[in-house]
Amino acid sequence: MSNASLSPASLRALAPDELTVEQAQAELAALAADIAHHNTLYHQKDAPEISDADFDALVRRNNAIEARFPELRRADSPSLSVGAAPASGFRKVRHAVPMLSLDNAFAPEDVTDFVARVRRFLGLKEGDALDFVAEPKIDGLSCSLRYQNGDLVQATTRGDGAEGEDVTANVRTIRDVPHTLPAPVPAVLEVRGEVYMNRGDFLAMNTARAERGEPLFANPRNAAAGSLRQLDSSITAGRPLCFFGYALGEVSEPIAGTQWGVRERLKGWGFQLNRPAEHCDGVESLLRFYDGIQRRRATLPFDIDGVVYKVDRLDLQERLGFVSRAPRWATAHKYPAEQAQTRLKAITIQVGRTGALTPVAELEPVNVGGVVVSRATLHNEDEIARKDVRVGDLVIVQRAGDVIPQIVAVVESQRPESGSEPYAYPTHCPECGSLAVREEGEVVRRCTGGLVCPAQAVERLRHFVSRDAFDIEGLGEKTIVEFWTDGLVRSPVDIFTLEQRNEGFTPPIRDRFGWDVVSQDKLFAAINQRRAAIDLHRFIFALGIRHVGEVTAKTLAKHYRTVDAWIAGMNEAAAAMPGQAWQDLHTLKGVGPTTVEGILAWFAHADNVANARFYATQPTLSVETVIATLLSKTVKRPAAKALAERYATVPDWVEAMAEAAAHRPGPAWGELVSLSDVGTVAAEELAGFFLEPNNRAVIGDLLAAGVTVIPYEPPKGATSSPVAGKTVVFTGTLTTMTRPEAKARAESLGAKVAGSVSAKTDYVICGADAGSKAAKARDLGVTILSEEEWCALVG
Ligand code: IVH
Repeated sequence: MSNASLSPASLRALAPDELTVEQAQAELAALAADIAHHNTLYHQKDAPEISDADFDALVRRNNAIEARFPELRRADSPSLSVGAAPASGFRKVRHAVPMLSLDNAFAPEDVTDFVARVRRFLGLKEGDALDFVAEPKIDGLSCSLRYQNGDLVQATTRGDGAEGEDVTANVRTIRDVPHTLPAPVPAVLEVRGEVYMNRGDFLAMNTARAERGEPLFANPRNAAAGSLRQLDSSITAGRPLCFFGYALGEVSEPIAGTQWGVRERLKGWGFQLNRPAEHCDGVESLLRFYDGIQRRRATLPFDIDGVVYKVDRLDLQERLGFVSRAPRWATAHKYPAEQAQTRLKAITIQVGRTGALTPVAELEPVNVGGVVVSRATLHNEDEIARKDVRVGDLVIVQRAGDVIPQIVAVVESQRPESGSEPYAYPTHCPECGSLAVREEGEVVRRCTGGLVCPAQAVERLRHFVSRDAFDIEGLGEKTIVEFWTDGLVRSPVDIFTLEQRNEGFTPPIRDRFGWDVVSQDKLFAAINQRRAAIDLHRFIFALGIRHVGEVTAKTLAKHYRTVDAWIAGMNEAAAAMPGQAWQDLHTLKGVGPTTVEGILAWFAHADNVANARFYATQPTLSVETVIATLLSKTVKRPAAKALAERYATVPDWVEAMAEAAAHRPGPAWGELVSLSDVGTVAAEELAGFFLEPNNRAVIGDLLAAGVTVIPYEPPKGATSSPVAGKTVVFTGTLTTMTRPEAKARAESLGAKVAGSVSAKTDYVICGADAGSKAAKARDLGVTILSEEEWCALVG
């Protein structure tokens, strides 16, 4: 396992319906990057880091969000390309006969059903014989070998079943594959089978790779796939690949009447066969075969994930045909996941590219179904707590054909009697020491030190120089990765000191591969040009704060105007962020805003808090009674009931209210969340970003390096308009224009459009059926305009 995230995404909590546009956009971007990353690992490097199930969950999540927000579908959306990422470099070949997959059976009843289905389809009567061939199901990758007049002319991978890749040169290097077949042999013969690696060869190969410092393969299947799909066949030749033949593709004339006969012919031509295989005459003997192989499974030299049952007579196979992508005449009977027990030595935390913290179990190495496992995923913080996994525990490890083994449970009876402590999940990033936070409704804890965290640095730098951020010509993503790898640029500010440091590099940039004096000086010029002038919204967007996309960055720039005002505003908002108790109270159903305000106003007085704390010491009183006694005018019966349901005891309630009253949001917070496109989620991210000293230092460094941020300029002509610089709120139904239209028009005239009314609002424009916002404007004495009056004002 490398230093990448183990798919926390399958656990993302908000339903697509609950996402804001901003969140949906951010998540789709993250998903596109994630999925592309895992696709490359799987298809091109044959080194997946997440299970197929987790991968599917990512794709499903992407599609669900796109279904809800079709307009946000990205040009690089995975939904436009999933799975279609074969390694480039191999020629595509259409299969003469499609390469099928197999249906699965798990329980004995599934096997009974399979046999009954076949018998019914063929119209067999009781007592009519029906024979099967049973053989092990090898975990490798299927391959089709085409022989013409006995000569191997082509070898193809399965691909999508209809079209595969030409891997002839590589397959020719496999010892088990005959290059010529002894006569008699049909003019055209396609032999299908599995390319795989023996477990012992796999372990030896990985050991050698480890010694050379090369990346390891996760299992024999990936090793086989990775070895077969090498563009240089001399690499394949050095890999211990094997081949079993088990079926036919196109054949110009029949070679046998039964599956067993096919095996015999294949053996005669020199092919290896799946062994041990057996002839079976019904469900009972099939299940006996299954059990027998299961007992011998660990002693077989190769990995299997089940056994395969095939109707023996080829004429019956022909009649049975296939449904969608699997034959009716065969099925795969799968074995359950393999488990083993071992000691948990330690829990380490990996930090992914997006800052997600993932716990990894470090185990006493143990053999799980033939593969030595020393690390397993613990998924996330909640899973550790749910299973109460503790360092030193004896744990059950499972390997389910998946790439990453899992901890399924703790053997609690074996827990040491003393000295074991529940695992305390870290609150700080192990890579950079920044605070790691977990958002409401998320299972993943994330590092907030994006710009300084080495785990996230490349990703953040990539974003920093991307087109809508600093967009420095000559400093594309490729160069950034190259410079980061070689230590030239490790944080954004390093970009702006490159020129200064260049003469100290060995070699200087101009002497690097692919560079010369001209391109080097052009790069410095481009950097200096950006240093001299960068728009505020680009600067904000470049910082890569979660949920702060381009639109939100623009809104912030428009509102705060200068970088200094923005920084001050963010620091104030961070200080004015409401506490958890306040937020809980405000999301409580059945308690309206007026009631909440009344309660908090009351708890704002120290005397009242002391009084309430006295009541909290009286054990016989219920929350409802205390509320009725102290706040009967403010809190009506239904609200009191809702509060009593949420807060279990009087002390709970009193402390929560005191806490909420002490940590109410300040005006700077209100100002931030009321901006359209910002909202609580982005506001919390912004505040979190500014609370982290490392992040403030990055901004300070950039400004100190001479980066000059241009204040937001309202569009030309806007300054002379009567609403320039005014804050306006639209409410109710407008008749002559839509909301977005009204907003765009107001903004083009230099007004700020806010989502809620405050003392800072200049105008509230009320359409039909305006409600609480109009009332609030009246209370605060804010000027109210009708739609007509507004139109007259702005012309
Ligand atoms: S027969 C028409 N026999 O399992 C179907 N397949 O999950 C031909 N496999 O794509 C397949 N061992 O790659 C068959 N003894 C065996 C097998 C086997 C492994 C693979 C094969 C197939 C996949 C389906």
